[in-house]
Amino acid sequence: MAGIMDAELVIAAAQGGALGSLPCAMLTAEKAREQVNIIRQQVSAPLNMNYFCHKAVEPDPAGEAGWRQRLAAYYKEFGVDPAAPVNVANRAPFDVAMCEIVEELKPEVVSFHFGLPDRALLKRVKAAGCLVMSSATIVKEAIWLEENGADVIIAQGAEAGGHRGMFLTEDISEQPGTFALLPQVVDAVKVPVIAAGGIADGRGIAAAFALGAAGVQIGTAYLRCPESRVSAPARAALSQALDDSTVITNVMTGRPARGVVNRVMREVGPISADAPAFPHAATGLAPLKAAAEKVGRVDFTNLWAGQAVRLGREMPAAELTRALAGAALARMGQLAG
Ligand SMILES: Cc1cc2nc3c(=O)[nH]c(=O)nc-3n(C[C@H](O)[C@H](O)[C@H](O)COP(=O)(O)O)c2cc1C
Repeated sequence: MAGIMDAELVIAAAQGGALGSLPCAMLTAEKAREQVNIIRQQVSAPLNMNYFCHKAVEPDPAGEAGWRQRLAAYYKEFGVDPAAPVNVANRAPFDVAMCEIVEELKPEVVSFHFGLPDRALLKRVKAAGCLVMSSATIVKEAIWLEENGADVIIAQGAEAGGHRGMFLTEDISEQPGTFALLPQVVDAVKVPVIAAGGIADGRGIAAAFALGAAGVQIGTAYLRCPESRVSAPARAALSQALDDSTVITNVMTGRPARGVVNRVMREVGPISADAPAFPHAATGLAPLKAAAEKVGRVDFTNLWAGQAVRLGREMPAAELTRALAGAALARMGQLAG
């Protein structure tokens, strides 16, 4: 979960028995190495490094200026200078520098969002002995991933928090929910399938296994663990969120992602044709986010979360992981008996 966690949550989840995943999409290669070293000093469990592999778009100064214009009233309200220089968006696709880090650190698993990197890089990741996983949001993507070298497919349903892993479709209205997607992906591919989206307790995990999953990927349920880096105001917003509090939006980054509705999503989105391509929409929002957070507001903060956000609990991640596994086994036992 890029942007809201680091080694500490990976370590705690791994201590509870999960495959901890380090989000590297917003890290430099050096920072990723540093985080992996911290994790390996604490736990000997297998490690997953996670990357984005979107196609980087050419800078579009006119589009970005238009976006800042669209946000002009907010700049005025928060006393932010729209002409002030902004750090460039730092969600970079997997590249040679990151591949070298993977070859050096040899994590047991490397997972990708938005497809797979180009063939040469993927070959190097596999030659380093890493198992490769990637997300599919429709069956066509799952088949493509299997044909192009993924060892494990993550079937990501519409309920999931964060960015849709979609890469062969652009239509969010077409995306099936986890319950419909998962068995169809299981039927379509030979590799193991991990279920993702809306799974937040033992019932959800048992249901995913009943539908053919070989494992589950859980994000939202961990957001309020003390080891996450979710800010205090964002934590408060998440703790009040209900089943109908999330929507899919493109205004926060330029790519569709699910999160709890904030002010800019409500007033400019949730979907806006003015939002520059991923990840550049975030650039125009960055100074506003910083200014609003200073006064304890999450008007421009990503509150990525899935539809099961209300099931999230505030407890240490190792404990949560054990509780989830225990509850799932108990539920499966009840169903079998
Ligand atoms: C806050 C947040 C950040 C996320 N960031 C990433 C990411 O960096 N890479 C990725 O592959 N998936 C990311 N996801 C998606 C998760 O990997 C996963 O598919 C999703 O959390 C599963 O659904 P759930 O949120 O209902 O548990 C993120 C999800 C959330 C909630």
